[in-house]
Amino acid sequence: MSKYELPAFPVSRLRRLRRTAALRDAFAETRLDRRTLIYPLFIMEGENVRNAIGSMPGIYQTSIDNALRECEDLVSLGLNSVLLFGIPNEKDDRGTAGYAADGVVQRAVREIKTRFPEMLVITDVCLCEYTSHGHCGVIADGTVGNDETLELLTNQALTHARAGADIIAPSDMMDGRVGRIRAALDAEGFAEIPIMAYSAKFASVFYGPFRDAAGSTPQFGDRKSYQMDPRNGREALREIALDIQEGADIIMVKPALAYLDILRSARSEFSVPIAAYNVSGEYSMIKAAAERGWIDGEKAMMESLYSIKRAGADLIITYFAKEAAELCDR
Ligand code: PBG
Repeated sequence: MSKYELPAFPVSRLRRLRRTAALRDAFAETRLDRRTLIYPLFIMEGENVRNAIGSMPGIYQTSIDNALRECEDLVSLGLNSVLLFGIPNEKDDRGTAGYAADGVVQRAVREIKTRFPEMLVITDVCLCEYTSHGHCGVIADGTVGNDETLELLTNQALTHARAGADIIAPSDMMDGRVGRIRAALDAEGFAEIPIMAYSAKFASVFYGPFRDAAGSTPQFGDRKSYQMDPRNGREALREIALDIQEGADIIMVKPALAYLDILRSARSEFSVPIAAYNVSGEYSMIKAAAERGWIDGEKAMMESLYSIKRAGADLIITYFAKEAAELCDR
């Protein structure tokens, strides 16, 4: 019998398994596990800094000391993974602060790994938080130069690895960066450090609140010459295939909610682990509607996270991680 030749009503009554909460829980096809949630942290210079981000209620820019306090909270909630973004004091046109051995992220990694050796510390590799112009690479001939940028990204990845990062996550969308970073890590004794590639990263308006948080809005133009066109699904699979060829251990689809189709096709085409980035705008929209009483924020959060899992994500990077931890399946 094919799966569509079901016995007809009244023999088939799909409501039977929906009758009680116990039945629904027993037959839920998708689970949310706290160990698969990754919480982003925005790290600033200074001491005892904790700046609320206006467009992301509940999310803060913190100095390293307060980031350690965040980690304590995370661990007590059963969360064990963070993704670090740095906000340097000084920016320049080559993003020098991004690959300084004692840069803010490099120091944060060292301190977090010293205090919480079991914690999974993932670092975002990209220049946009560190460049004065806010682009993800260096400017060459009036555009973001691809090959000129690769060396700087490689340096950044190496400083993260030397600081003790567990996973390196390039988010810049330059061609060939995964291969270059892999080769450099291998050559410098970091053959065991995995790369989580932001492979299908779209030029999305949903990054708006993040750019407030990271101070990384491009000062001219936009990111469309390096991030993907939201209209393209097949091209996303090519990006993913190339990153896997270049050595990515984990691939990512970003944003998540407007791109669930990409997640689903990536899941069926490839056998590598897949991460999805439930981005800032996706977070803020739910927060804003909930603040106005237009939507139940907690339920909207859980429904979104389950949809991302159901579409095929193994890991979810989300600003909701702490709130969701309390409601995860256990
Ligand atoms: C850096 C980077 C961005 C995000 C993650 N890494 C911003 C961008 O590309 O403009 C967005 C994350 C979010 O919106 O939550 N390149």
